Amino acid sequence: MHLPIFYLLNFSIILVVLIFLIKYLWDMFFGENYEPPAWEQARKEGRLSRELLKASRNYPDKIRLYNFWLQIQRINKEGLKGDFAELGVYKGESARLLHLMDPGRNFHLLDTFEGFTRTDLKPETGEAATYSTRSFADTSRDKVLKYVGGNRNKLIIHSGYFPQLTHELENVNYVLVNIDADLYNPTKAGLEYFYPRLVPGGVIFIHDYNYKWEGLMKAVDEFTANIPEQFVLLPDLDSTVMIIKNKI
Ligand SMILES: C[S@@+](CC[C@H](N)C(=O)[O-])C[C@H]1O[C@@H](n2cnc3c(N)ncnc32)[C@H](O)[C@@H]1O
Repeated sequence: MHLPIFYLLNFSIILVVLIFLIKYLWDMFFGENYEPPAWEQARKEGRLSRELLKASRNYPDKIRLYNFWLQIQRINKEGLKGDFAELGVYKGESARLLHLMDPGRNFHLLDTFEGFTRTDLKPETGEAATYSTRSFADTSRDKVLKYVGGNRNKLIIHSGYFPQLTHELENVNYVLVNIDADLYNPTKAGLEYFYPRLVPGGVIFIHDYNYKWEGLMKAVDEFTANIPEQFVLLPDLDSTVMIIKNKI
């Protein structure tokens, strides 16, 4: 008597799996293609590593990914010197992409690796106010190093509360900085610390400039009101802000 229900359930599961599989294959072959011509050319000429190609296929925010890559291409074409840094690494997803795109650069990875602090959460409003000290705490420096992989001797982990850990970064200049720390305090402190150390032509990205992160938007607005550069808001999934430092 229970047999038909069992078969029906089995059939439904198989049907759902099949639908997902067909959609995946359809998107792969006929889905929208955001690939910029420079990337297409590099891919055809075999200049993109297998790991980067695989990571790019799986990464959901294609516009963010290609923008990272195009900026790194520009930086290399212009022969700009300086290290990469990311403030807000969590498990290393964006760090992995950036490292795969230029594995020869020193890359500073800064995070508490224990999530947000109470001090930083306190002044937050909007969606950020619903986060807690447990958010983004399920990671560790070892897990990040393992996940990012690649050129281990170029990855420099700075574990602790930012900006308290900047003493570990004396005399470092940056050519690319990704600030992805969600809240007002670390974003403001990150801009104040990194911008003066950014080489001319270098780029700072600030992820999540959108209504969900009111404190972060305030930090960006306050900081950019006092610099000569105009920030550019990208149409990627979470609205990244990009600042390219003027050359004079
Ligand atoms: C949204 S996550 C980063 C996501 C990451 N870039 C990725 O690709 O998955 C935000 C991170 O910022 C870190 N963070 C926030 N405030 C910080 C602070 N003051 N000092 C150090 N890390 C901080 C958190 O620990 C968290 O891991």
